[in-house]
Amino acid sequence: MRVAVLGTGIMGAPMARNLAAAGHEVTAWNRSAEKAEGIEGVKAADSVAEAVRGADAVITMLADADAVEAVVREARPALDGASLVQTSTIGPEATARLAEQVPGLVDAPVLGTKAPAEEGKLIVLASGPEDARERVDPLFEAIGAKTLWLGEAGAGSRLKLVINTWLLALTEGLAEAIALAEALDVDPQTFLDAIDGGPVGAPYANLKGKLMIERDFPPSFPLELALKDARLALAAAEEQGLRLGALAAIAEQMERAVEAGHGKDDMAATIQASRA
Ligand SMILES: NC(=O)c1ccc[n+]([C@@H]2O[C@H](COP(=O)([O-])OP(=O)(O)OC[C@H]3O[C@@H](n4cnc5c(N)ncnc54)[C@H](OP(=O)(O)O)[C@@H]3O)[C@@H](O)[C@H]2O)c1
Repeated sequence: MRVAVLGTGIMGAPMARNLAAAGHEVTAWNRSAEKAEGIEGVKAADSVAEAVRGADAVITMLADADAVEAVVREARPALDGASLVQTSTIGPEATARLAEQVPGLVDAPVLGTKAPAEEGKLIVLASGPEDARERVDPLFEAIGAKTLWLGEAGAGSRLKLVINTWLLALTEGLAEAIALAEALDVDPQTFLDAIDGGPVGAPYANLKGKLMIERDFPPSFPLELALKDARLALAAAEEQGLRLGALAAIAEQMERAVEAGHGKDDMAATIQASRA
C-alpha cells in the first residue's frame, strides 16, 4: 500500500520504518523536517499535502489533539478517499470531533512504547467502520504484535485512557516507593528485588525502577505526554461524574516534575517531583 506517516517522533519514525520494511511504499512528513529524513526505506515529504497525495492510507502519530487537528486540516483536501488512521493518544472527545470531519476514520491508539515500536510489537487498539478493517489490517501487522478491533471509532481511544490510567498509577507508585526507600535509608534495589517475580511485582518495575534509581531519563514516553494523558482521563472521568482522586494527585506530581524542566524526559522523571 502507499502509506503517508504524519509525525515521525519517538513512535512515528519506527512505525514508518517497519511499514516500509513490510513492503509498503511509505512517505513521511514531520513538522521539524529533519526527523522525517534518513528513516530506512522511507521517503521524506516537504509538506503534509505532498505526503498525503496518492496515499491509500494516512497515519497520524502526533503529540496531542491540537497537533492532530491542525495536521488533519492540512491533509483533508488531499485525502481523496484514503483511510485516515489516527494512532496518537488524543482521547474520546477529540476523536469524536475528528470522526465527524473525516468519514471512515480509524481510531487506533497504540499500547507499547519506544522499544515495542522499534520491534514492530505494538498492540493496536483499533476501532472504526467494518469496511476499513481489511484495508488497514496489513498496516497494523507491520507495526504491531496484536490488533484488537473494538467497535466504532472512539472505542480504541476510550480503552487507551483506561490502560494509561493504570500505567500512570504504576509509574507514580513506583516513583514514590523508590523515593521513600531512599529517604528511609533503604537500598531501593532491595525493594525491586523483594517484589521481583511475586504477585505484587511487575516487569515494568524493573524497567522503570532502574532508570529512577539512576536518575537517567532517556525518553521512551515523554513525561509531558504522560501528563497530557492523565488530564485526558480526568476530563473523561469528570464527564461521567466520576472522581479519580489518585489520578488527580498523579497529574499534580507530574505537573511539578514538568515545571521543574522534565517535560521532555521519560515519565520515570516523575520521581523528581517528590523532592521538588
Ligand atoms: N512514546 C510512547 O511511549 C507512546 C506510546 C503510545 C502512545 N503514544 C502517543 O503517541 C503520540 C506521539 O508520541 P511520541 O512519543 O512519538 O512523541 P514525540 O516524540 O514527542 O513526537 C511528537 C510528534 O508530534 C509533532 N508535533 C507536536 N506538535 C505539533 C504541531 N502543533 N503540529 C505538527 N506536529 C506537531 C512533533 O513534531 P516535532 O518533531 O516538530 O516536534 C513530533 O513529530 C502521543 O499522542 C503519545 O501520547 C506515545
